Amino acid sequence: MKNKNPNLQTVLITGGGTGIGRAFARALLQNEFGTVVIASRRKEVLEQTANELSTEFPNQRVLSFPFDLRSREQTEELVRFTSEQCGAIDVLINNSGLALPQTVEVITAEAWETVLDTNLRGAMWLTQLLLPKMVEQDFGDIVNVSSQAGKHGYADVPAYCASKYGLLGFADALRDDVCKRNLNIRVFNFCPALVEVERDETSEPRQGFLHVRSMTQTLLYALMLDRGVILHDIGISAR
Ligand SMILES: NC(=O)c1ccc[n+]([C@@H]2O[C@H](COP(=O)([O-])OP(=O)(O)OC[C@H]3O[C@@H](n4cnc5c(N)ncnc54)[C@H](OP(=O)(O)O)[C@@H]3O)[C@@H](O)[C@H]2O)c1
Repeated sequence: MKNKNPNLQTVLITGGGTGIGRAFARALLQNEFGTVVIASRRKEVLEQTANELSTEFPNQRVLSFPFDLRSREQTEELVRFTSEQCGAIDVLINNSGLALPQTVEVITAEAWETVLDTNLRGAMWLTQLLLPKMVEQDFGDIVNVSSQAGKHGYADVPAYCASKYGLLGFADALRDDVCKRNLNIRVFNFCPALVEVERDETSEPRQGFLHVRSMTQTLLYALMLDRGVILHDIGISAR
């Protein structure tokens, strides 16, 4: 099966300006991935992260693109941008997401929509738009950041749970599709429990939280596995 040197690979990370997405971007650059594109709504946050990463990794490319995942038009613009700038995306990390804590009885129609459109519909739409080029080059990794809330229900975040369960279902269907077609495209999911994103590299996380470095180490491990190995859902939590 075809493999590709990391320094020739382009990674797109939604929500790459902050938190887990930002840590993923940095870890991939540290491990010599050639180009990282980060994309989310807040232009200034993206630019600040992109500038910091470009300064730290001057020999690699860091690009940023502001867009709202809930908008089909803006998602198409992002895909046009990456296509013009980098050609195919080799690794797509569907990381953007949010939770609005409201129980079933009180949640508003707007809140249902916001959460499902961001965490699920937007990720499905972006994946669909990027898939043809992965198929054409017969190479790609699609990584979805779901949650423990994609495996268990929690009373205060029903929309979040529905979206994260949904993301796993979508990923399963896509994995089945690419496997049946014998394509060199892997689809896998993170199902993390609580992750502490603000700690520096060396300090320990709070009790009950994962350090974000555990996420980055796991991402790198998963990406470096043999291309013929199919990893499914990565459940990961503090002891
Ligand atoms: N931290 C945890 O404990 C934990 C546990 C399990 C799963 N997760 C999942 O991990 C992922 C990253 O979360 P995080 O903890 O790193 O929190 P975070 O820093 O808030 O990251 C979420 C990212 O999503 C982006 N985003 C939100 N709405 C968007 C939209 N409409 N269009 C495009 N981007 C949008 C945000 O950027 P903008 O505001 O600029 O758009 C932000 O960069 C999420 O999917 C979350 O559900 C986190």
